[in-house]
Amino acid sequence: MKYNIAVIPGDGIGPEIIGEARKVLDKVGMVYGHDFQYTNVLMGGISIDTHGVPLTDEALETAKNSDSVLLGAVGGDVGNSKWYDVAPNLRPEAGLLAIRKGLNLFANIRPAYLYKELSDACPLKQEIIGDGFDMVIMRELTGGLYFGERHTKEVDGVMTAVDTLTYNENEIRRIAVKAFDIAMKRRKKVTSVDKANVLDSSRLWRSVVEEVAKDYPQVMLSHMLVDNCAMQLVMNPGQFDVILTENMFGDILSDEASMITGSIGMLSSASMNESKFGMYEPSHGSAPDIAGKNIANPIATILSAAMMLRYSFDLDMEASAVESAVEQVLKEGYRTADIYSEGCKKVTTAEMGDLIAKRI
Ligand code: NAI
Ligand code: MG
Repeated sequence: MKYNIAVIPGDGIGPEIIGEARKVLDKVGMVYGHDFQYTNVLMGGISIDTHGVPLTDEALETAKNSDSVLLGAVGGDVGNSKWYDVAPNLRPEAGLLAIRKGLNLFANIRPAYLYKELSDACPLKQEIIGDGFDMVIMRELTGGLYFGERHTKEVDGVMTAVDTLTYNENEIRRIAVKAFDIAMKRRKKVTSVDKANVLDSSRLWRSVVEEVAKDYPQVMLSHMLVDNCAMQLVMNPGQFDVILTENMFGDILSDEASMITGSIGMLSSASMNESKFGMYEPSHGSAPDIAGKNIANPIATILSAAMMLRYSFDLDMEASAVESAVEQVLKEGYRTADIYSEGCKKVTTAEMGDLIAKRI
């Protein structure tokens, strides 16, 4: 089968980590007989330098016409780069917002997985980690407080600011369907997180999620209030499989969950629309402080490519092969600088990519 992938290396360490993800995809293609075709797309600082804007219409069109997008990261050293001496809509990150909006990527999927080999890096006690944890946070990305009506004005002589948390049933339904679909490929458990004891939007959220759940009788659904969820994530993270939640709750909870896994260089993510289309990228940025040194950790990007295989292409076996290869390499003691600890074998970005590709 042939798959057209739009590849956006971006800035900083972007090209280095994307190179390693392609290495691994090429090996998957060879072993399992798939033809991955890449089209290079410019975005961020490199697009500003070449075309004067962070994302051209043509680049967005190329992304739209592909089967999925693999992204490194965009942006430079914010305090010290010419890219930031301009209006916000011409800065590198504006390309990111434009492509998310242009592709209608409303479902943000962030796995939080603790590798046994890296459990030293986890800030939780061993007795809490237990057998480890492996969860996915499904965050709604294009609604809620971030997109609701807002204004600031004087009311009776007092400055007053208003933000609005709005959701309609269609927006809730489509993200819930995504969450249940993903739960079906995992341990079949959805925890829907809301604040239904206070918010109307949460009560609607709960009732729509209940309705969607009827189409997934194999999936166990439970509801949890967001403040309790924040507590449960550090008390008993092993209980979660898929957490489904609205935009701002998801923003906060996904940062909390990601930190209990230890290192930013390990965290993958996907943003999807209603179809199988998705944009896959590491959770970290372009790390200008270590760019060009061949020391960045490529694993977050490689695991993002594995998510692409699973969620956009339905290649579950191939995705698992990539994840097992990563686990194997960690088990053998290979570490990039960010996850290095004494007694391990320190490797470069390219060496880490080679080691993972070799084990597929
Ligand atoms: P960052 O995630 O790029 O870096 C934070 C720290 O983590 C740095 O010390 C960096 O060296 C380290 N780090 C990040 N990824 C790593 C990896 N794979 N291996 C080893 N170490 C790694 O965040 P920062 O410094 O706040 O932002 C740098 C630039 O990236 C900015 O221009 C920012 O706007 C942009 N950015 C872009 C994102 C995207 O394209 N999706 C997301 C976040 C930030
Ligand atoms: Mg955040």
